[in-house]
Amino acid sequence: MSKYMDTRPIGIFDSGLGGLTVLKELQEKFVNESFIYLGDTLNFPYGEKTKEEIVKVSKRNIKYLIKQDVKLIIIACGTATSRALGEVKKIFNIPIIGIIEPTVEYVKNLNISEIGVMATNGTIKSGAWEYYLKQEMPDIKVVSKACPLLANIVEEGKIESKESIDVIHSYVQVFKENNIKNIILGCTHYPLYDEIIKQEFNYDVNLINTANAVTIYLKKFLSEKNIESDKRSFMPKIVITKQEKDFERKAKDILKLNNCKIFIKNY
Ligand code: DGL
Repeated sequence: MSKYMDTRPIGIFDSGLGGLTVLKELQEKFVNESFIYLGDTLNFPYGEKTKEEIVKVSKRNIKYLIKQDVKLIIIACGTATSRALGEVKKIFNIPIIGIIEPTVEYVKNLNISEIGVMATNGTIKSGAWEYYLKQEMPDIKVVSKACPLLANIVEEGKIESKESIDVIHSYVQVFKENNIKNIILGCTHYPLYDEIIKQEFNYDVNLINTANAVTIYLKKFLSEKNIESDKRSFMPKIVITKQEKDFERKAKDILKLNNCKIFIKNY
């Protein structure tokens, strides 16, 4: 008997380039799936918005992706996951996966007693990482650090700059002081600093990229719900809500693709 297949695409959203670190991983690991990525550049940065604003923009993003006939939605954004996932799950009748739950599951298997979290102001203020980590591992020590400048530096295309090295240097001190060797990159822009952060620790650190955790989670989810696809219909379709200088080049760099076409959606 043949398995039921669902060839509809998977929808993903973030405030800009960051969620592409998740898309890259999914695009490589799920070779039969198609992806539609929405980068809400008009409303970047999410990290400085209120919970109400994040719920509002998340609802709009989800409505747009549902109109594209996606089979499920991945919120490839720590801020929108921590601020809006609970609300939007109540409203929409489509599976919505954030980055926190898969990552907490992943961390649980590491059997560690201390963990660091780097994320945006909004995410750290929400307390979501600490809350969910402690739900699963009540005794874990969580050291959180808001890193408000990092997502902006990425969008400005300045990762390879002295500024970014200096900023990382100051943000990671708290982890060094607390001898934290496992750090969750709780904002999807941050894996782009992977090398700079590792250098800061002389490579004696384990950086947890939420994209890996989402990959493991999604594999199980698609198979359990019997909604895998057996054929990719198109290369990732990337839509942004405001034209941004060099977005296409930056997106190609992150995705390691020679080609990717960017569409503009006017909200
Ligand atoms: N990539 C985002 C996150 O994971 C949002 C960064 C921002 O827009 O401030 O939190």
